[in-house]
Amino acid sequence: MSKPEVIRTRNFVRDAAEFILQQAHAALGERNEFRLALSGGNTPRPIYQELAKIGSDLPWERVFITFSDERCVPPDDDKSNFRMARESLLHPAAVPERSVARLRGELDPQVAAQEYEEQLEVLAAQKGEMVFRHDLVLLGLGDDGHTASLFSGTAALEESVRKVVANFVPKFDAWRLTFTYPLIGHARRVCFLVDGNKQQELLAKVLEPDAPFPASRVNSLATDVTWIIGEAAA
Ligand code: 6PG
Repeated sequence: MSKPEVIRTRNFVRDAAEFILQQAHAALGERNEFRLALSGGNTPRPIYQELAKIGSDLPWERVFITFSDERCVPPDDDKSNFRMARESLLHPAAVPERSVARLRGELDPQVAAQEYEEQLEVLAAQKGEMVFRHDLVLLGLGDDGHTASLFSGTAALEESVRKVVANFVPKFDAWRLTFTYPLIGHARRVCFLVDGNKQQELLAKVLEPDAPFPASRVNSLATDVTWIIGEAAA
């Protein structure tokens, strides 16, 4: 586990999209597939739009897309992370449906988490892996230091065995579906996408060693971590 790589850029959207594309080409070159977990929220939307443009000639049939978390809503709900990804990337890049594993937010949360975890287990077993290994897991940073749907004080933070869980988030009085640290930590690389509008003082604290935020804990997992941070317009 090395120190996280921190990239600060004024060309946040373009640099983030190019980073993902470069990771895709590397994985496809080495293993003929690219396993990518998309993060949700608002920050990734323009990055996914850019990726759809500059990655139009990617062999999307050899890309496998998962979601690092999802709200417990139907896929056409405006809060759905899947809907945001479909509008900004999946549809514009004509990603084949069989290349996408959607977290079914419309189901009972426990059922949705269980079925997703089983889906990843089957795919891992097909490759002789004990745990499904993403090539790249994208994550965001919440204003409270959460990432995916790993919020301070919630049960999912303590999950050390399961890879995908339903997590009740008191601040929203709502269930979420989320990757756990064991699954995130098994990725070849994690990349946080943090635009320049984020509170800079929060960001400085989150990047401190052993900081007490859910996002910070990713830095101490076994995976390589890159932070791509947009510099606020002057
Ligand atoms: C979600 C996300 C969440 C997000 C952060 C940042 O489902 O909301 O996965 O972890 O990445 O909350 O969200 P913004 O990009 O909207 O600031």
